[in-house]
Amino acid sequence: MRTRLIGLALAGLGLAVGPNLAARAEILGDYLGYRACQECHAEIVASWQKTPHAHAFAGLKRQGEEKQGIPGCVRCHVVAFEQDGGFIDMGLTPELADVQCEACHGPGKKHVEAGGDGQIVAKPDANSCRVCHTEGQDKNFDYQRKSKLVHDLAKGGKKGAK
Ligand code: HEC
Ligand code: HEC
Ligand code: HEC
Ligand code: HEC
Repeated sequence: MRTRLIGLALAGLGLAVGPNLAARAEILGDYLGYRACQECHAEIVASWQKTPHAHAFAGLKRQGEEKQGIPGCVRCHVVAFEQDGGFIDMGLTPELADVQCEACHGPGKKHVEAGGDGQIVAKPDANSCRVCHTEGQDKNFDYQRKSKLVHDLAKGGKKGAK
């Protein structure tokens, strides 16, 4: 399992900002970030960008700049915090900040490599929301209502890519 220590080691070698693509691929693993979905799901990406999830990392600042560096805050405001291939910090994994597609649908690499043929969580269930929408954060979380708001499924909710 990749740990933050590896991230720190890479940062120490200066790989974080350098153009070392192999090292970047290794850090990101199976999580790609929403830009990898844009080509085939342009409408969903555009509508997700208008939701609070798309600004969840920036929003941390409202309670103080330092909050973006506190794991206890960051973990619910990014993709797959401290999981294999998930968000580490803004230096190493800026493309995984905010609550993006893969925070709910899981890692997208296999799906993208297969040209969209399955291999991704099709319908994230209430438990997947509850990882972040805990009793403490969102007492009366209502999956039926809120899952309609995560991207504009009411409008663009036909089956298939778009
Ligand atoms: C190369 C094009 C392509 C890319 C890139 C792509 N998808 Fe898809 N995706 C598709 C197609 C085509 C379907 C429709 C499959 C179907 O209707 O059974 C689909 C379906 C889905 C579904 C529904 C799955 C199901 O079984 O109903 C989800 C969720 C999804 N994509 C998420 C993503 C995410 C997240 C990304 C970015 C990490 C992404 N896709 C990138 C083409 C793509
Ligand atoms: C367990 C997951 C979790 C943790 C940990 C967490 N948040 Fe959040 N945060 C959420 C969820 C879920 C929402 C949306 C709640 C809602 O809609 O009722 C939210 C909403 C917010 C908002 C936007 C709404 C508002 O109140 O302005 C800010 C800002 C915020 N959190 C900051 C923080 C800060 C700062 C920390 C660390 C002290 C933190 N969060 C820790 C899950 C979390
Ligand atoms: C907060 C969680 C969440 C986020 C973030 C999210 N989704 Fe979804 N997505 C869902 C849920 C829940 C469903 C199933 C809705 C239903 O069927 O009632 C879904 C369904 C889908 C589907 C299949 C249904 C359809 O409209 O074709 C696709 C494709 C999809 N999401 C792609 C994406 C992409 C691309 C992104 C990022 C731009 C994204 N999702 C972000 C939760 C999320
Ligand atoms: C990785 C953590 C995470 C996951 C997983 C997640 N959310 Fe969120 N959600 C957040 C945070 C953080 C916010 C607040 C963003 C802000 O305002 O800055 C939020 C806000 C929202 C909002 C807008 C505010 C509100 O409460 O009405 C809705 C709707 C929502 N989430 C629905 C869902 C649903 C449905 C799922 C599961 C399909 C889900 N979320 C999964 C972290 C998460």
